[in-house]
Amino acid sequence: MSLPDSPGAYDLVVRNARVATAADVFETDIGVRDGRIAALARGLPAGAREIDAAGRWVLPGGVDAHCHLAQKTGDGSVMADDFRSGTRSAACGGTTTVIPFAAQLKGESLAQAVRDYHAVADGQACIDYAFHMIVADATPSVTNEELPALIDQGYTSFKIYMTYDDLKLDDRQILDVLYAARRHGAMTMIHAESSDCIAWLADRMLAEGLDTPPYHALSRPPVAEREATHRAISLAELLDTPILIVHVSGPDAIEQIRWAQTRGLKIYAETCPQYLFLTAADLEGDLLHGARCICSPPPRDEAAQQAVWNGLANGTFQVFSSDHAPFRFDGPGGKKPEGEHTPFNHVPNGIPGLETRLPLLFSEGVLQGRMDINDFVALTSTQPAKLYGLYPRKGTIAIGTDADMVIWDTGITRVIRNGDLHHNVDYTPYEGRTVQAWPAITLSRGQVVYADGVFQGQAGQGRFLRCDRPAPARPRRATRRHAPWLSALSRMDAWTDAGTAGDVGDAA
Ligand code: URP
Ligand code: ZN
Ligand code: ZN
Repeated sequence: MSLPDSPGAYDLVVRNARVATAADVFETDIGVRDGRIAALARGLPAGAREIDAAGRWVLPGGVDAHCHLAQKTGDGSVMADDFRSGTRSAACGGTTTVIPFAAQLKGESLAQAVRDYHAVADGQACIDYAFHMIVADATPSVTNEELPALIDQGYTSFKIYMTYDDLKLDDRQILDVLYAARRHGAMTMIHAESSDCIAWLADRMLAEGLDTPPYHALSRPPVAEREATHRAISLAELLDTPILIVHVSGPDAIEQIRWAQTRGLKIYAETCPQYLFLTAADLEGDLLHGARCICSPPPRDEAAQQAVWNGLANGTFQVFSSDHAPFRFDGPGGKKPEGEHTPFNHVPNGIPGLETRLPLLFSEGVLQGRMDINDFVALTSTQPAKLYGLYPRKGTIAIGTDADMVIWDTGITRVIRNGDLHHNVDYTPYEGRTVQAWPAITLSRGQVVYADGVFQGQAGQGRFLRCDRPAPARPRRATRRHAPWLSALSRMDAWTDAGTAGDVGDAA
């Protein structure tokens, strides 16, 4: 066995790193052994491999906690990225862990859905991955039997929908899911848009022939997101159970979340690049051009962008994810199932963004002075790792953690071109935008997976990660005081603190 300070003790030494974690900035050499960080000190002995990071930021690898890869759809559309191309693209943008979805279809067993997604992911991913589940059919056997068993097996978060006919749950079903989450210690992610408000508007627009992409945004107005966000918060308060509202688009929903957080509720929130860098105007243009930017909730306006920046700065948001939902613009299975006259309600929802998430936020957030480097790390790596039970294995640079790190080039000028990206989508909504930061080297468990503009990883080197029960999903103490209506019920608090991971300060 090699001693830490003997020659050859390390497989890799990253020299002269200027490290930022969610809390600190410090200069150090980083010794890596067996895929983990083994030493943080200046003047480490030579490693088998050496990388000089002098003058560069070295940050924890990104954790993209919301992306869709090889996900089954119910409408004939086909995701362009599988676990191989999606994780390749993620690595080239500085992300070293992804958490895509194992999606249950209505009528299907949740456990079978998880097996199906393992079948397409295992042996394909280039970086480490976990799964959130999507619960689309909240039957008693799913909430009482399958969910508890899967949570025990390391699938400790799931997403539920308040919109989309093939996915949505009604309020009673949402309560059943939240009850299971509370009892068994899982994190519930909620897509909060009001199904009925949207359907009412969309049906009338379509009946009047108003079917081009801009009407997608008009049929999903902020009030529909605000109403559902408030309802989701109320359902969570009824069960005194933490939730995380995903892909929040603007001030209406942000106000609800902030209000709930101020009341002491454990309401967490995520936003995404499209709400900082796109507006509803990006859905305009000839020949269905705007279908590229159809996603839900839709991008809003510049005032909404500012509100999202403010929410990132003031701690309303804990997570910044891509919501990478990859559909090609041209060709079968893509954005135009009925050609150039595809009505907006037949355009598959979602936009790509795995590779551009971190460079965009580093450039416009850190380098433009809207957030500090610690907040960048927290939002893109540490807090998602904590919220989904992966911390401290992922999400920080510390002795004993996986050696997932990114050495950044900053002060550069790089124009985003889809041709330079590594996903399998034929466009990026950020084509032509200039960034001033891009990963120079991405390390996944100490292995170089991206360097000098070239993907250097391999399909299959990514490992599946079983997640702990996240500490932030733990209900507040003193249920009797917060939610006396629950005290009468037996079996409310079956789960214990065993196996929880990390706490997130801001929203608790
Ligand atoms: O439009 C979006 N966001 N599509 C992806 C699916 C989802 O709801 O996250
Ligand atoms: Zn969603
Ligand atoms: Zn999504």
